[in-house]
Amino acid sequence: MINLTTLFAFISLLDITFAFSVPFSRSDTPSSTSVNFTNADGIVYLVTVEFDGQPVQVALDTGSSDLWIDSAGLNLTPFTNTGLNVTIPYGPDIHHTVAEGPILVGPVQLGDFKVDKQAFISAPGSNATMTNINQLGILGVAPTTGSIIASTLKNTSYNGRSFLDNAFMMYPKEPNYITFMLSRDPVFGITGGGTFTIGEVATEFAAITKSPQRKVVFTSELPRWATTMDGMIVNGKKYSGHSKFNSTFVSAGQTVTALDSGTSYALVSRFYADAIYKDLPDAVFNETQQRYIVPCDTKANVTLVFGNDEYPINPLDIAGVTGISDSGEIICSGLFLVAEMGDLDIVLGDIFLRNTYALFDFGSWATPGTGDPFVQLLSVTNQAQAWNDFDAANAVRLDSFKKLIHGSPGGNETKDEVSPSPASPESSNSDLLRNSYIIIGLLAGVIVLLLVLFALVARGSKNVGYKPVPNVSRAGPAALDDDGYAKPYAYSAP
Ligand SMILES: *[C@@H]1O[C@H](CO)[C@@H](O)[C@H](O)[C@H]1NC(C)=O
Ligand SMILES: *[C@@H]1O[C@H](CO)[C@@H](O)[C@H](O)[C@H]1NC(C)=O
Ligand SMILES: *[C@@H]1O[C@H](CO)[C@@H](O)[C@H](O)[C@H]1NC(C)=O
Ligand SMILES: *[C@@H]1O[C@H](CO)[C@@H](O)[C@H](O)[C@H]1NC(C)=O
Ligand SMILES: *[C@@H]1O[C@H](CO)[C@@H](O)[C@H](O)[C@H]1NC(C)=O
Ligand SMILES: *[C@@H]1O[C@H](CO)[C@@H](O)[C@H](O)[C@H]1NC(C)=O
Ligand SMILES: *[C@@H]1O[C@H](CO)[C@@H](O)[C@H](O)[C@H]1NC(C)=O
Ligand SMILES: *[C@@H]1O[C@H](CO)[C@@H](O)[C@H](O)[C@H]1NC(C)=O
Repeated sequence: MINLTTLFAFISLLDITFAFSVPFSRSDTPSSTSVNFTNADGIVYLVTVEFDGQPVQVALDTGSSDLWIDSAGLNLTPFTNTGLNVTIPYGPDIHHTVAEGPILVGPVQLGDFKVDKQAFISAPGSNATMTNINQLGILGVAPTTGSIIASTLKNTSYNGRSFLDNAFMMYPKEPNYITFMLSRDPVFGITGGGTFTIGEVATEFAAITKSPQRKVVFTSELPRWATTMDGMIVNGKKYSGHSKFNSTFVSAGQTVTALDSGTSYALVSRFYADAIYKDLPDAVFNETQQRYIVPCDTKANVTLVFGNDEYPINPLDIAGVTGISDSGEIICSGLFLVAEMGDLDIVLGDIFLRNTYALFDFGSWATPGTGDPFVQLLSVTNQAQAWNDFDAANAVRLDSFKKLIHGSPGGNETKDEVSPSPASPESSNSDLLRNSYIIIGLLAGVIVLLLVLFALVARGSKNVGYKPVPNVSRAGPAALDDDGYAKPYAYSAP
């Protein structure tokens, strides 16, 4: 039997987690808030949002702009039904899921911010959630200009603004920014706690306000938290450029790079995937999966360059456990997957963001705001220390996965749960492109891991009384046009 308590106790001695701590500096008015991510571990960062006092766990997603929940089981009488229905589809055709239902309006609270008339999609019974592990929706924190709800309610008397925009409207003179501290689960090396703030900065990382302001770039009408990256240093060698965009969008050496908390991994072109993995021992590119399969002890120094600043990535985030072979062995992959995103070169998900403290300033994207939106990043990973700690930390996570697979009571029960591999994306990249790029990461890399975590949940609840492990985001809505293809949102960027 796996004893998680013991594992956690053991790993904490290794001190591989980054010590995120409160307090936060607050302004005099209660115009800011901080909210801890509610997941102890898993592969998505969840917060608890209250719907007229009823708590619902949702993924916090910088890659989308709408709020939706599976409302089954909630008392909806306090909410006004606008009578307008919305469908948000996710994933490629063969495995697509939907969040579908009417737009409701009513009291919604996150941290200290309570919005009395917040619009959200009520999607009872949605199959785009993982109800058994308590991720019941998504709170998108990309700008309102990308919101399907906002565009649907545009010509009505309802306020279709995003939750954040409504929050910013309460204190129109206060700054309009959010910050993310994503921490690491000490056993599995993945998603584990952290803090989200609106309008305040962690004291410990106050230096972020002095970090260079990185301009948001627009390559399409869909507003993204995207900026330009200036290259990547892999084991001392610098790689840059190879953007598909011309000088209208990027300067020489740059790429258009989105920062997306709703993506677990990272999505890059083949050029950058080769740069990271090609020369590593026994790394083999799998054309079907569009990623490198690598030995589970793969270790590399990868640093991303933004402007003059370098952001090292913990080697734990460069490769990870992504599957189980037919013979029951764990399979590891490079977590920078290859994908083609129409309006972006690169998507950096949690595997990068965990190595930073990140601030997203809405500027004029917020209704009360002015100026250009920007992003600030503060490195929180010490490359030398991460390199030194890797062997021990990696041994613990590999051991933990192996125990999940082999060491469970009931023996092969776990393998039966995880061995079907429904999620290997057989579809081509162009198929995936129809939908949100965020889903590419999910389908291409995460689901098998998810199933492992499901097994943990099942096992935990049966045998150790372990709390449910929250799951991955289905983040990233896409509106469908008449042909069933994703299209940019109806609004254009300001
Ligand atoms: C967040 O977690 C920290 C401990 O890590 C705790 O001290 C703090 O009170 C929590 N904040 C909130 C708003 O719950
Ligand atoms: C929204 O969906 C409900 C339930 O399916 C249906 O009764 C209603 O007519 C729909 N409204 C619109 C405007 O399509
Ligand atoms: C999710 O629900 C939609 C609509 O009901 C359906 O078309 C789709 O096949 C379902 N997806 C899965 C994976 O069950
Ligand atoms: C809102 O009204 C404008 C102008 O009348 C129209 O062009 C637009 O299509 C309408 N939008 C929606 C979502 O109905
Ligand atoms: C760059 O690309 C855009 C969009 O594809 C195009 O409109 C523009 O003319 C191009 N500019 C140059 C300098 O090639
Ligand atoms: C690549 O992945 C596919 C799908 O998982 C698998 O069937 C195939 O054997 C892999 N190819 C190689 C060369 O390992
Ligand atoms: C990675 O960086 C660490 C610390 O800077 C260094 O000791 C180590 O040799 C580097 N490894 C490689 C492969 O460059
Ligand atoms: C594996 O599962 C089969 C069928 O359920 C069962 O007969 C067998 O005893 C199991 N093996 C172990 C080691 O538990």
